[in-house]
Amino acid sequence: MAKRTDLPDDRDVKTDLDPEDWDDFRRQAHRMLDDMVSFLETLRDRPAWQPVPDWVKGELTAGIPRGPTDLGDVYRDFQTLILPYGNGNLHPAFHGWVHGAGTPTGMLADMLAAGLNANLGGRDHAAIYVERQVIDWAIDIFGFPKGASGLLVNGTSMANLIALLVARAKHLGLAVREQGLGEAGAKLVAYTSAAAHGCIAKAMDMAGFGTAALRHIAVDRDQRIDLDALSRAVAEDRARGLTPFLLVGTAGTVDTGAFDSLEGLADIAAQQSMWFHVDGAFGALAVMAPELRSLVDGLSRADSLAFDFHKWLHVPYDCGCVLVRDGALHHQTFESAPAYLARAERGTGAGAPWFCDFGPDLSRGFRALKVWFTLRQFGIDRLGAAMVHDCRLAAYLAARIAAEPELELLAPVALNIVCFRFKAEVPDLNRLNADLVIDVQERGIAVPSTTRLGGALAIRIAIVSHRTVEADIDRLVEAVLETGRRLAG
Ligand SMILES: Cc1ncc(COP(=O)(O)O)c(C=O)c1O
Repeated sequence: MAKRTDLPDDRDVKTDLDPEDWDDFRRQAHRMLDDMVSFLETLRDRPAWQPVPDWVKGELTAGIPRGPTDLGDVYRDFQTLILPYGNGNLHPAFHGWVHGAGTPTGMLADMLAAGLNANLGGRDHAAIYVERQVIDWAIDIFGFPKGASGLLVNGTSMANLIALLVARAKHLGLAVREQGLGEAGAKLVAYTSAAAHGCIAKAMDMAGFGTAALRHIAVDRDQRIDLDALSRAVAEDRARGLTPFLLVGTAGTVDTGAFDSLEGLADIAAQQSMWFHVDGAFGALAVMAPELRSLVDGLSRADSLAFDFHKWLHVPYDCGCVLVRDGALHHQTFESAPAYLARAERGTGAGAPWFCDFGPDLSRGFRALKVWFTLRQFGIDRLGAAMVHDCRLAAYLAARIAAEPELELLAPVALNIVCFRFKAEVPDLNRLNADLVIDVQERGIAVPSTTRLGGALAIRIAIVSHRTVEADIDRLVEAVLETGRRLAG
């Protein structure tokens, strides 16, 4: 092999990336930690959200730094350019989409995980055993059997895709990994409800089936999948020579927090030999609260489940999870062992099975540590109680809406999501409600989001934060009324 002769002699140069002065670094590190703890302690003193100013956007387009910058200067830029302009989800008045609020403990765990810089693709180190323990806890929480498997991933979208790929291998055999979908694959069809999250269709697309192979079954007035319509659709597809292979139920729909009848879906999946997957992104965690548990009856009969730790369990982003009842099949669906990843009986290369054989990622961070800290520090009873608190606030908001003639509830409140609108005699009520939401956001009062129910644009309040209290809901209602009246002229 040719010898490189053009490389500089760096023997007298500091080439490692550790601090030159550890004491100085320690001081800076303590300051950053103290500042961040103070920031979290005083969240309420700041607006729920504020727009990123143009000058900040401009600063964040500067080109790649070729030379060094003092750590203190980089941190100062973090404080002025980044810290004040978050998404708002830390704030008690953030009710948009479905965002976890994080916890100070999660922040510390993430710092420790970054310090360890563990790669959980595989090999034999303690972090692997932590993720296994977390997966075992999840298996226990959801009543999956021994032999079930799981994997921490970046979120429920990825967890749904992984489950779908295992279902694909179940129906087409493991040969699908080599041969692709083929003729049999072209006949496979899947079912979910019209209220399902868009990532299910995306997963069908990415798995090679195409979104047209996913049937969106109608929902009833409560946004739950219509079981009769589902049975009819399955029969029609069979009559056309197609093969129903996958049924995806939702535990907590994204728009309204509705729960499909998981028992009903499990029965139909069993009768029709379909894989039964549950997208439980946030709602599946209702299993942790005795008051909510009955909503997920039937969940333990699922072949697979996708859910997030980063939503209602407040583990810092990102952290989702997939569980698969047939752990062996899950492993077979993703296993691969090239020479450079040889497994060993002893030494660093031991510790099989490796997590890289349960999903697409080889390099994987230590997400498990922040889950481990969160579950251990709070315990699932307290985390469940925080969810029940959010549901109580949702019921409180629904009652306040019912008492206000200018407000109208647009969907039943099954869990922690409230969809409503401001009513007025205006040419475009949807426009008014969309503007109202943006107005409330831009004034930093609260962060609602919107969705469409039927033709109506709804103000959507998802109460996910463990920090939200009744006074936040009162403030929100007052702001909606005041803004609605102003915009209606
Ligand atoms: C029901 C449901 N499924 C899937 C997702 C996607 O989850 P993630 O954002 O973690 O990928 C969401 C997100 O809100 C959801 O509500």
